Amino acid sequence: MKKALHIAASPNTEKDDVKIALKHLMSPWTWRKQEYQEKLQNKIEEYFNASNVCLYDSGRSAIMEVLKAFNVGAGDEVLVHAFTCLVVANPVMWAGARPVYIDVNKQNFNFDLYDLKKKITNKTKAIIIQHSFGIPEDVEEIRKIVGSKVIIIEDLAHSLGVRFNNKILGTFGDAAILTLGIEKVITSVRGGAAIIFNKEAAERMNKNYKNLPEFPKSYTFVSLFNPIFWYLTLPIYYLGIGKLTLGRIKVFLGHKLNLLGRMIEKEEYTGSKPKWMPSKISPALCEIGCNQWDKLERLNNHREEIKKIYERELGINYSGTSAMLRFPVLVRDRDKLLALAKNKGWVFGDWYKKILYSPEENLAGFGYSKGLCPKAEELKGKIINLPTFIKVTPKEATQIAEFVKKWL
Ligand SMILES: Cc1ncc(COP(=O)(O)O)c(C=O)c1O
Repeated sequence: MKKALHIAASPNTEKDDVKIALKHLMSPWTWRKQEYQEKLQNKIEEYFNASNVCLYDSGRSAIMEVLKAFNVGAGDEVLVHAFTCLVVANPVMWAGARPVYIDVNKQNFNFDLYDLKKKITNKTKAIIIQHSFGIPEDVEEIRKIVGSKVIIIEDLAHSLGVRFNNKILGTFGDAAILTLGIEKVITSVRGGAAIIFNKEAAERMNKNYKNLPEFPKSYTFVSLFNPIFWYLTLPIYYLGIGKLTLGRIKVFLGHKLNLLGRMIEKEEYTGSKPKWMPSKISPALCEIGCNQWDKLERLNNHREEIKKIYERELGINYSGTSAMLRFPVLVRDRDKLLALAKNKGWVFGDWYKKILYSPEENLAGFGYSKGLCPKAEELKGKIINLPTFIKVTPKEATQIAEFVKKWL
């Protein structure tokens, strides 16, 4: 039977995480216990040498709360990548500000600095730096361009634990956000954090935090169920006849019965905010978060090893990188490649096959119109992302690279 290597199906989850999820699923009366929430907060504070960290339901809520803490709102502009997900643009709008989209540079999928310079105005109040796929952006270079008044928020969704010039990403700007979402560097299934280095803004963040609602219980349930589901499903995914496999049936039922949850709610695709966001992190998920936090170095060392194999085999070099969450490659006939890879059991990523990962008809609602970022519009048709997560062996990485090489 084929081995399922799925880049988005709880890729970091291991047996010990599943045990924790199961324990909490069986004891809902403990879901509000704060013990692991405090532990996770302490771990993050220690790691970033920061004294002001708040934990939220998601990274997108963390972005919104950081902007609010710095009084970014109506009439302000926030510079963001066009080559990203709508979950980054949305919290900017939810905070009342306007996202301004910066084009991508073809070498490393970070900002096109020429476009960045062009789009700064006297309304520019903040910039969100993505460190795309784990490739560090030179934040000090960006600081020189945007000036000292613009608030720099490092988004560590792809780059938690990555260093640049021996300094940990997330410590270069005024604030950083991280996500513990299911497909990210480490996961608590759902969760996010904000780190603010400015004292006054941090005080505002802490004050606002106290008034936030608790994470909804129904979401805690599906979040605890999700890693267990994938852990038990992936090994038998391809058991069956032809297209009718046990995995496909289970996933179909899981979605039909609403047991797997959605990482992006329907209304977010049109810019609306789910009512329960922002909320506090679910304390029940924090023990998984703590357990994963302790594995950060091991998971990232593995990613670095796999990245080096892709670099060597594909002749692509992303200079200055270590652990990459995903390894981006530009290919011909992207959809055909992805379909053929699936036949081998490999589900690759497709970030960012669409501007803001949004249906084109919704883009106007995010303030994006065709032609604003031509390079992003060109690259979106060609990009795939190869997996680097812990279950990809060096041998499999070599096989994946051999397969992909023919499509370069
Ligand atoms: C670049 C980037 N930043 C922030 C986020 C927000 O994270 P979350 O899903 O926890 O809201 C995401 C999520 O996909 C992301 O891709």
